[in-house]
Amino acid sequence: MARLISICIWLLSVVDSSQISSHLIIGILGKSIMLPCSLNSSAPVVPARLTFYWTARLKHQKEDQVVHALYNGKENNDHQFPFYRNRTQIFKDQLSSGNFSLLLKDLRVEDDLTTFFLFYHQEDGNYNTLNQNKEMCLTTVKVAKSYHKPIVTVNYEEWKAECTSQGGYPKPRLTWTNQNGLLDPEVPQIVQDPGSGTMNISSTVNITENQTVTCAIFNPTLKETLNTTRSTGEEQVGLSSGIKAGIGVVAVAVIGSALVFVCWKKSMQQNGADTQEMGPLRHSVCSNVCFTTKC
Ligand SMILES: *[C@@H]1O[C@H](CO)[C@@H](O)[C@H](O)[C@H]1NC(C)=O
Ligand SMILES: *[C@@H]1O[C@H](CO)[C@@H](O)[C@H](O)[C@H]1NC(C)=O
Ligand SMILES: *[C@@H]1O[C@H](CO)[C@@H](O)[C@H](O)[C@H]1NC(C)=O
Ligand SMILES: *[C@@H]1O[C@H](CO)[C@@H](O)[C@H](O)[C@H]1NC(C)=O
Ligand SMILES: *[C@@H]1O[C@H](CO)[C@@H](O)[C@H](O)[C@H]1NC(C)=O
Ligand SMILES: *[C@@H]1O[C@H](CO)[C@@H](O)[C@H](O)[C@H]1NC(C)=O
Ligand SMILES: *[C@@H]1O[C@H](CO)[C@@H](O)[C@H](O)[C@H]1NC(C)=O
Repeated sequence: MARLISICIWLLSVVDSSQISSHLIIGILGKSIMLPCSLNSSAPVVPARLTFYWTARLKHQKEDQVVHALYNGKENNDHQFPFYRNRTQIFKDQLSSGNFSLLLKDLRVEDDLTTFFLFYHQEDGNYNTLNQNKEMCLTTVKVAKSYHKPIVTVNYEEWKAECTSQGGYPKPRLTWTNQNGLLDPEVPQIVQDPGSGTMNISSTVNITENQTVTCAIFNPTLKETLNTTRSTGEEQVGLSSGIKAGIGVVAVAVIGSALVFVCWKKSMQQNGADTQEMGPLRHSVCSNVCFTTKC
């Protein structure tokens, strides 16, 4: 009687566990992730009479696929879906304690939003089913990667600011703000790297003088925001003082060469005719120039 009650309780808990929504875990692109799964029964697990297979319900596959299989205590991956080849590991030394966790390695963008679960079957010494569960440890994996800190560049000829960020996943949300709130950018360009699956984003926005613009990149899976602020005012001051300095250099050069020319002309005149009509002021300017240019 006690045994019957405990089986009933076990069955109830099975129904319960298959009805709960899948557990969500976040993995980082290129890294490994543990899909946790442990049997909560006090009955000892005999690995030689244990069969299970981790199964995947991929986003773009109609049929469920085998991820990693154990038949009567032996790993057998003849029917493994090729996408998982060399990327899975179970812990055989932990099976007897009911730990059926799976390590999935080298996460790819194609792993994003895959739901994994375990089919589990335990027999007793007479090949009778002791325990069985068709959808245990239901887990959905989300794959993500941090974006690089955005870079903001300002184009003063077109009065536009551009924000770029690279190497993240999934598609980010990009926003521009200034002191007064949200700005209205052009449609951002997003490109996906065909190899790694990571994304680059760039967005441009019209700017005006003396603005402080911030570009923020939000990764929806990691809930991570990275932002960069640029002040268009500062750059403008730098640019105009640069122009002033440039004008100054040109002006000095023009005046200088004019004086040298006058001086040269005067010395030519001194060699020939009398130069009294040039006047004392011009004479003193010329002697200064002649002194510095050693003529
Ligand atoms: C076992 O218990 C843990 C912790 O209470 C729970 O997270 C896990 O889902 C349970 N496993 C199964 C197969 O029900
Ligand atoms: C898996 O690993 C084996 C042995 O290291 C190797 O020969 C095989 O090419 C690998 N398969 C894949 C799909 O990476
Ligand atoms: C299962 O085994 C793995 C690998 O040793 C370990 O990381 C994990 O914590 C174990 N889980 C439990 C519930 O003991
Ligand atoms: C930015 O300015 C250009 C003209 O310089 C205009 O054609 C374009 O519509 C503006 N873009 C936005 C998003 O306001
Ligand atoms: C994304 O940006 C990186 C760094 O600038 C570059 O190496 C890579 O080629 C870009 N990817 C694509 C698909 O444009
Ligand atoms: C920008 O700032 C400079 C220096 O503070 C100021 O001279 C100029 O009038 C400002 N321009 C605008 C459009 O506010
Ligand atoms: C930019 O990031 C900092 C943290 O690095 C945060 O405190 C700030 O609120 C963010 N600014 C915007 C406009 O998102």
